[in-house]
Amino acid sequence: MVKTILITGGAGFIGSHVVRLLVKSHPDYLIVNVDKLTYAGNLENLADVENRDNYKFLKIDITNIRQLGVLFNSFVFDGIIHLAAESHVDRSISSPLAFIKTNITGTVNLLNLAKEQWKGMMKGKIFYQISTDEVFGSLDERGVFTEHTSYDPRSPYSASKAGADHFVKAYHNTYKLPVIISNCSNNYGPNQFPEKLIPLAIHNIMNNRPVPVYGKGENIRDWLYVEDHARAIDLLFHKGRVGETYNIGGSNEWRNIDLIRLLCSIMDEKLGRKNGTSERLITFVTDRAGHDLRYAIDSSKIRSELKWEPLVNFESGLRMTADWYLNNTGWVQHVVSGQYKRYYRKQYGNR
Ligand code: NAD
Ligand code: TYD
Repeated sequence: MVKTILITGGAGFIGSHVVRLLVKSHPDYLIVNVDKLTYAGNLENLADVENRDNYKFLKIDITNIRQLGVLFNSFVFDGIIHLAAESHVDRSISSPLAFIKTNITGTVNLLNLAKEQWKGMMKGKIFYQISTDEVFGSLDERGVFTEHTSYDPRSPYSASKAGADHFVKAYHNTYKLPVIISNCSNNYGPNQFPEKLIPLAIHNIMNNRPVPVYGKGENIRDWLYVEDHARAIDLLFHKGRVGETYNIGGSNEWRNIDLIRLLCSIMDEKLGRKNGTSERLITFVTDRAGHDLRYAIDSSKIRSELKWEPLVNFESGLRMTADWYLNNTGWVQHVVSGQYKRYYRKQYGNR
């Protein structure tokens, strides 16, 4: 194998798309996927590549130094793409410590091991931190986040990601660890756990259950199809400039309520329901505490340096996503058992 690449969190939503892309497009790389398999990690996401010769999965918790030590003694990595994280804002509001542990301590564990393993041979190596636009805080109606926007995290999730990013930058400055960070906007697409807005809405519409919209539904997010993000990660990993940060976004801003109405009409069509039927499921619920109003990304840097651009337009991406959930009811049934039901009752009551 030409290169050995560690991907953390590869059994999750974005990670599984990144693993699939790299395993298929780089048959000469060994892709080592490590994941704790929390409620959000699911090896079914990778069933189509699990038997490939250039792919290996190891169940490892990045907060566990012993397990990580064995991993770094077993492989010499050329690069690390770090996606493992606790990723849901609502869960971070009820359990912030889990976010500090995985997102900050877990990241620093990986930085330490990369620093030790790459001592005296940093050239050509890369520690790639996958971060979020949420570290920049919240925008009002105007403006966009650029790579120069100061960090101003406002939720325990975004604070933990910001903390991790600061450590990544500190290791670059202090120990000359070769790093790249990208900050991406909201992703959607197949394999996303149905606690996030789009898959939760699709799942509830399919099951004729209320679709919870926080506050008045006026918050705005910039949506990007997950495969467009995975392509950007592949590009940055290979061609991004060391020590730089890059914003990735869809230039595709939607008010939550408008997005949900569009999704309802798509679902009516796909389920053979009369237009307007699913919209009646929309239920306005108590707003999220500290709910960021608007995120919007200026991605001109990656567009001009690496000629990246999103390929999937939003309505067709939503249609592909809806089709995936409709065609993969088995996957959905597995992930919404037991623990999911308890989470859902705690978050939304008996709705
Ligand atoms: P996800 O929750 O679907 O997946 C996270 C994965 O990390 C899961 O497979 C989980 O099992 C694993 N994991 C969690 N704790 C772990 C631990 N202690 N050790 C090892 N593995 C662990 O998340 P996602 O949406 O795929 O996000 C992936 C990354 O991308 C995260 O770092 C997130 O901050 C970032 N990101 C996400 C979005 C988005 O819209 N989803 C946008 C920008 C950036
Ligand atoms: P989410 O998918 O949780 O992503 P993030 O909070 O990381 O942006 O939420 C996207 C938007 O949808 C956000 O403004 C919160 C809102 N939302 C709802 O209105 N209802 C819900 O049930 C959820 C989960 C989110």
